[in-house]
Amino acid sequence: MDFYSEKVMQHMRKPKNVGEIKDADGVGKVGNPACGDVMFLYIKVKNDRIADIKFKTMGCGAAIATSSMITELAKGKTLEEALKLSRADVAGSLGGLPPVKMHCSNLAASALHAAIQDYLSKKGVALVAAKRVKKRR
Ligand code: FES
Repeated sequence: MDFYSEKVMQHMRKPKNVGEIKDADGVGKVGNPACGDVMFLYIKVKNDRIADIKFKTMGCGAAIATSSMITELAKGKTLEEALKLSRADVAGSLGGLPPVKMHCSNLAASALHAAIQDYLSKKGVALVAAKRVKKRR
């Protein structure tokens, strides 16, 4: 068996949604201190849906492929649906990843969640949630 699936190779060679959204509603930046890879993910939100999404990743081939796949999976989804996307969804949609590369898919899911969190924070949603948590203590 090859190290990477055909799907991973496709997204590595021709990644989708590469770039930056200058006036993004939310930006997620995550890095992996172990390998030094960094991923930026930009979202535009319309009616609680991800209307546009782009990424810039400085990292390994698997990080590029997982970034590309997470943008494909998240585009058009509601924020709630997008928040449920996990690294297993990313890896599964790519036909699997070698165990040593699973952390790369974690990076992609985390970048998406961070971008949504950034958007919600700007809307004041995270602050409301934080206050509720504080009150419960
Ligand atoms: Fe670091 Fe893939 S080796 S994200």
